[in-house]
Amino acid sequence: MSSPSARTATKAVIPVAGMGTRFLPATKAIPKELLPVVDRPALQYIVEEAARAGLPEVLMVTGRNKSAIEDFFDRTPELETALEKKGDQFRLAAVHAATDVAQVHFVRQGEARGLGHAVLQAAAFVGDEPFAVLLGDDIIDARDLLLEEMLAVQAEHGGAVVALLDVGADNISKYGAVAVDESTADGSAVRITGLVEKPPADQAPSTLAIIGRYVLPPEIFAALRVTEPGAGGEIQLTDALVRLVDDGVPVHGVVFSGRRYDTGDRLDYLKAVVQLAVEREDLGPQLRPWLRKFVADLPAEGASPA
Ligand code: UTP
Repeated sequence: MSSPSARTATKAVIPVAGMGTRFLPATKAIPKELLPVVDRPALQYIVEEAARAGLPEVLMVTGRNKSAIEDFFDRTPELETALEKKGDQFRLAAVHAATDVAQVHFVRQGEARGLGHAVLQAAAFVGDEPFAVLLGDDIIDARDLLLEEMLAVQAEHGGAVVALLDVGADNISKYGAVAVDESTADGSAVRITGLVEKPPADQAPSTLAIIGRYVLPPEIFAALRVTEPGAGGEIQLTDALVRLVDDGVPVHGVVFSGRRYDTGDRLDYLKAVVQLAVEREDLGPQLRPWLRKFVADLPAEGASPA
């Protein structure tokens, strides 16, 4: 059984080996994690989040057709020299920001057999310590300190901590759903008593869904090794968390109410680009008046566009 320990997480694992089928055909050639959200790949926001939360050692679990991710986090001497010659310090800083933010390592998943299987590939890198998992297509707004809060809950209670979002009954069947013991609520943290991956809406234990942030104890690897394929024929991280609950390991949830963008989903991706661009100092002042006019000119719902 896990107990709170002096050891806190220092490493982050970012699985990016999924096939990204919801974004076909773009993802035939471009990993969905590199689709630009304004001018930075979604993945860069996520690496920055890990570094901000005090996790500068990052392992990406990649797969076939994902070599562009390794290129993105590598140095680009020719490009840097060209920018230096032009004296373009602004763009040079943007190029450096991608490589300097964290120490990024890579491991391959061989075959996309599910999120649980992707996380299992991190066992050697992680060793015997708690660690964070950040999904490569799930952006949490930089102003919302979700991961920091989850790390604090893990340091206090030990075991595992997952991020939860109330997605409502209409959406819960797309997520891992949890049962919670409300009597244990402590701030936004609550003890989880059961988990089920992609339940039919009428069988979901609640409308609280697991979103793309986890802080996990090293015991998760033993659980993953014996976890059979579950929903969708994939090895599910949720199913390994069920084993931890059954073994008496504390599993907590932090209920999130901030801004989150699932950039692997086309509609959420579009919202993320607009929302983050509108708030940018360099683009917002021109985009906001254009957007207001565009929205004002939109035909009412049900009317056919001009
Ligand atoms: P998703 O389920 O969102 O990714 O996994 P997917 O399978 O690529 O998406 P669709 O449904 O086909 O569009 C969440 C995260 O886990 C990674 C993905 O890359 C994504 O960042 N993942 C998923 C893996 O690394 N390996 C897998 O086998 C599955």
